[in-house]
Amino acid sequence: MHKTTILVGAQWGDEGKGKVIDFLTEDVEYVVRYQGGNNAGHTVVIGDDKYVLHLIPSGILHPGKICVIGHGVVIDPKALIDEIELLKSKGMQVEEQLKISDRAHVIFPYHRKLDELRELKAKGIIGTTKKGIGPCYADKVSRVGIRIGDLFDGKYLRGRLSANVEEKNAILRDFHDAAGFSVEEIFNDYAGYAEYLKKYVCDSTYLLNEAYRAGKSILFEGAQGTFLDVDYGTYPFVTSSNATAGGACIGAGIGPSRIERVLGVVKAYTTRVGEGPFPTEFESGLKEKIREKGGEFGATTGRARRCGWFDAVLVKCSVDINGIDSVIITKLDVLDDLKTIKICTAYNYKGETYSNIPGIPGFLEECEPVYEEHPGWGQKTSDITEYENLPENARKYVARIKELIGADIMLVSVGKSRKQTMPCG
Ligand code: IMP
Repeated sequence: MHKTTILVGAQWGDEGKGKVIDFLTEDVEYVVRYQGGNNAGHTVVIGDDKYVLHLIPSGILHPGKICVIGHGVVIDPKALIDEIELLKSKGMQVEEQLKISDRAHVIFPYHRKLDELRELKAKGIIGTTKKGIGPCYADKVSRVGIRIGDLFDGKYLRGRLSANVEEKNAILRDFHDAAGFSVEEIFNDYAGYAEYLKKYVCDSTYLLNEAYRAGKSILFEGAQGTFLDVDYGTYPFVTSSNATAGGACIGAGIGPSRIERVLGVVKAYTTRVGEGPFPTEFESGLKEKIREKGGEFGATTGRARRCGWFDAVLVKCSVDINGIDSVIITKLDVLDDLKTIKICTAYNYKGETYSNIPGIPGFLEECEPVYEEHPGWGQKTSDITEYENLPENARKYVARIKELIGADIMLVSVGKSRKQTMPCG
């Protein structure tokens, strides 16, 4: 059994990681979030219950599993407390299972406000979740951020908060013509949050490395997806963290030589939420049909997701950047009714054919996808539980994806529940 696994989204997020993590958690002892914040939304269905988790790793739904929010995550304490309360009300043993890094950066109300106003004012909007993620990471990198551990030192917190609020209020007032914030109000609210969260806070890097040394199995769960990564994604239409596998080493404090396996989750087609280039996006008609059938609405904001054909160039890149060993294909059943299914195998751009994504400005916006067509299978697959029993054309489609992206296919999923997940080959 693998002791350490990183699981990443290999497209633009929303690949169905929540379900896969939940499935894999049976075999691990620790589940760790390493980047992003409550912009993420992992949906897990257990029996008749549906859980949407934004910050807490989905491992929390399994008794006894230790769930860690690493220091690469940005935490909105109020959102986290609400999530804890909800899980507790459903009988989950959160106090025994949850650990929060003392080095994780904290989202404040001014981060949310600036995120919202920047989107309103910007010429080309990004379509953020408006949760304050970008401004919080900006403060972290600007070395003015406030970390979870800082919330317990009143004097230090007040000093940092006063300086930050003064600066943010000036931007809000002078640039956005908006009202500012009161240091006292924020200080009091956050002192209360700190008191509530105290029992969960620890040096999570130490905890995880001790667990590693003791031979425990650890799953690092990525949020968002590879092409939303701030370095590798479709910049500037990205999130503000490293959603790729390398982000796990940074955001959880585990060295690269300690990672044994990287898994990628892909949808059998492609989706993206928010703005930005999307070469294989469907024309209207199919767009609505797949959105309806796949329930393609954001788990965090409820926004309709954009849908398109499977893009093998994109996923092959993802296999390379993340070092993905095996892939899990989700939502194959959503394609059941299609007569013909396309896969993008290359891009044409200004008279040349590309099998990669060069950093040419406007490349993904202007390129023409090169497609190959596959016959559909015209049969319901959601009640199939053995890979061998999938229709032949569905298996051929999966086999072709494997060939194009150059990674093994580990699992294929044909529905929301745990039992609709089959090992492949
Ligand atoms: P932010 O992360 O809120 O700053 O948003 C930046 C971009 O990432 C926007 O296009 C969002 O729609 C997208 N995004 C953020 N989180 C997720 C996610 O969990 N799934 C899919 N897209 C996301």
